[in-house]
Amino acid sequence: MDLVWRLCIFSCFGVHLVLGVPPIATQPEQVHISYPGVPQSMVITWTTFDKAESWVEYGVWGGKLFELTAKGSYTLFEDGGKEKRKLHIHRVTLTDLKPGSTYVYHCGSSDGWSEMFYFTAMKSGTEWSPKFALFGDLGNENPQSLARLQKETQMGMYDIILHIGDFAYDMDEDNARIGDEFMRQIQAIAAYVPYMTCPGNHENAYNFSNYKNRFSMPGDTESLWYSWNIGPAHIISFSTEVYFYLEYGLDLIFSQYKWLKKDLEEANKPENRKIRPWIITMAHRPMYCSNDDKDDCTKFESYVRLGRNDTKPPAPGLENLFYLFGVDLELWAHEHTYERLWPVYGFKVFNGSREEPYVNPKAPVHIITGSAGCREKHDGFIPKPRDWSAFRSTDYGYTRMQVLNSTHIYLEQVSDDQNGKVIDGIWIVKQEHGIASWL
Ligand SMILES: *[C@@H]1O[C@H](CO)[C@@H](O)[C@H](O)[C@H]1NC(C)=O
Ligand SMILES: *[C@@H]1O[C@H](CO)[C@@H](O)[C@H](O)[C@H]1NC(C)=O
Ligand SMILES: *[C@@H]1O[C@H](CO)[C@@H](O)[C@H](O)[C@H]1NC(C)=O
Ligand SMILES: *[C@@H]1O[C@H](CO)[C@@H](O)[C@H](O)[C@H]1NC(C)=O
Ligand SMILES: [Fe+2]
Repeated sequence: MDLVWRLCIFSCFGVHLVLGVPPIATQPEQVHISYPGVPQSMVITWTTFDKAESWVEYGVWGGKLFELTAKGSYTLFEDGGKEKRKLHIHRVTLTDLKPGSTYVYHCGSSDGWSEMFYFTAMKSGTEWSPKFALFGDLGNENPQSLARLQKETQMGMYDIILHIGDFAYDMDEDNARIGDEFMRQIQAIAAYVPYMTCPGNHENAYNFSNYKNRFSMPGDTESLWYSWNIGPAHIISFSTEVYFYLEYGLDLIFSQYKWLKKDLEEANKPENRKIRPWIITMAHRPMYCSNDDKDDCTKFESYVRLGRNDTKPPAPGLENLFYLFGVDLELWAHEHTYERLWPVYGFKVFNGSREEPYVNPKAPVHIITGSAGCREKHDGFIPKPRDWSAFRSTDYGYTRMQVLNSTHIYLEQVSDDQNGKVIDGIWIVKQEHGIASWL
């Protein structure tokens, strides 16, 4: 064996030999955080493949590292695929955080710790101006907006991320390895800023089990429907999928509807609406859209808007409910495009005025933002939309939103196809909120 050949054994094949070591299955991965809706708290969620304890060690940025500790627990998630893979999903709730303070943390146990991350504890009160990034339909393949969102999040541009359904494409595929890979991909966002979610149709496998097990949203409905407050806004997240997967339980439509009504009543109590006047909903399938695919809102009447009359008993839709409780803004995804609507109710446009449609609008405003990028690429539009459609784009991208104060919200659309150019922007201005503001 000459020298060149001997060197080649080390340099050409050496690397491959080293990779034969199995991964350490107690090493934390897929770290993400969420706001549990309780002031001064944050939930840290992560995965290990073997059993391990659930600890978070943390401390105020610039202070002594890891001087605080919190313990949680894991749930064993068995995927529904052939391999019945088992994931240990760890959850730890941090409490007594100082509003607005930045914390450094890592998570794991003496059997393996994650890298260090940081987050800022939710600010208190209603007199601040939270900044959001929001989008739906972000996949594991072709995730066009991912890199820009990772960078902007780490630059501190957002207080909150809203992912409006359809993750990974699909989390259950390849025995849930696609879900694992997706959760690794979003860690660069979701370990730093609360990543708030709702389910989409791509999560439907095994009764939404990958979605329910991997995320940790407020309340006790396995992340399916919940609400929380941020600054001057009340955010309601729900599942449009209960209208489409009846095999998982028709009763889910009714229990969600009942919950929505109760939540809207509470948010509309004068003392609540006064300090948190903005009511914003997020859910996956829109009530309106002008796409040319075979989905429900262009070619068929929307179940979400009007409900279903082919069920027993008939299932109520949500457009009237949201109108009656003065919902200001409705955020949707599912269509892989961006579409902004004029204020609309019952297919009729209710502009504030012709010159300033979004100044004191007389009906809710809808935004459809499902173009973050996935293997299904874009959807198209029908050539001639109805008169409620205000602006449309097929560029990949996502939406930024800032709730400035009790009267002003700013929304803008970022295009990834055009290197981050802002291609649309509106101010919604309301002196009054609630049903009285429609009149
Ligand atoms: C599906 O999940 C929901 C929510 O977790 C549950 O209430 C329902 O019973 C499940 N349906 C079936 C058929 O298992
Ligand atoms: C049932 O709903 C469909 C739309 O989803 C509508 O076209 C139809 O007229 C309704 N039927 C009744 C009896 O209300
Ligand atoms: C609403 O306002 C927009 C912008 O001025 C206008 O183009 C549209 O025609 C208006 N719609 C109605 C029904 O007044
Ligand atoms: C909200 O912010 C806007 C834009 O900065 C400002 O013009 C408006 O006066 C503010 N409203 C209140 C109630 O402070
Ligand atoms: Fe979808």
